[in-house]
Amino acid sequence: MTYNNILTEVDGKVAVIILNRPQVLNALNDELMNELGKALLGFDADDNIGCVIITGSEKAFAAGADIATMAKYGFADVYRGDFISRNWEEIKKVRKPVIAAVSGYALGGGCELAMMCDTIMAADSAKFAQPEVKLGIIPGAGGTQRLPRAVSKAKAMDLALTGRMMDAAEAERSGLVSRIFPQADLLKEVKAIAKTIADMPLLTAMMVKEAINTAYETTLSEGIHFERRLFHSCFATHDQKEGMAAFMEKRPAQFTNS
Ligand code: HXC
Repeated sequence: MTYNNILTEVDGKVAVIILNRPQVLNALNDELMNELGKALLGFDADDNIGCVIITGSEKAFAAGADIATMAKYGFADVYRGDFISRNWEEIKKVRKPVIAAVSGYALGGGCELAMMCDTIMAADSAKFAQPEVKLGIIPGAGGTQRLPRAVSKAKAMDLALTGRMMDAAEAERSGLVSRIFPQADLLKEVKAIAKTIADMPLLTAMMVKEAINTAYETTLSEGIHFERRLFHSCFATHDQKEGMAAFMEKRPAQFTNS
């Protein structure tokens, strides 16, 4: 499949989606988001893929939603067109693990896209911000909801009210980013992490993702109940039998994703 605004590649069981509008620092427009959704759902349906990476260029993961397009919008356009839920939320349908590998700018919608992924790994060059306030808008793709859950209310208010940039070290300290790598090693390191994940039994990895994401949508006791039921269902899988037998027999497990 060829796209105009993204590139895709497959390395073993790992799929990589590269945001590719270099002339505008990967500003996110409708066509790009449609292509991203299509690629994500395609890899989710592909039995040969176990983990997906979304990345950008060295200079920018994505510098936000496309301001040139938004500048033309009025209230009727965004309300009637339900900007942005129509094509920004495809990523939430993906049931396999998705990693954001962030180099350079992840601003506005770029930061929000990274936060929609299951985890964020960053280059030491990464810069995160929610600068929308400076444009007379508020974050519109989850920034006011996911950022405080990731970094605390104090830090989210600071970032979204001042629009300032946060570097990779601050983002890791704050809990937004899981790990930082030197710029030149980012993709190699994230691919290795994605391969580790893709080599896990797929149904179990999907259940881990579903259970952790449920923690953000429910009460503690309901979440723990949900976890317990998923935990019980693991015992119906071949890969639980195989994983435990392999441990007992001191041999590598041969998972079949069943
Ligand atoms: C459209 C953008 C863009 C954007 C950069 N460009 N960001 N175009 N939308 N979000 C374009 C510039 O206009 C310029 O085009 C080219 O990319 C290179 O950018 P420069 O500004 O020349 O580069 P630099 O001086 O290095 O500065 C980089 C930057 C700056 C700090 C990232 O570009 C910047 O502040 N960008 C906007 C960041 C932002 O406000 N993001 C939030 C958007 S609102 P030309 O043609 O001049 O070469 C948002 C809302 C989300 O995301 C809500 C849900 C959808």
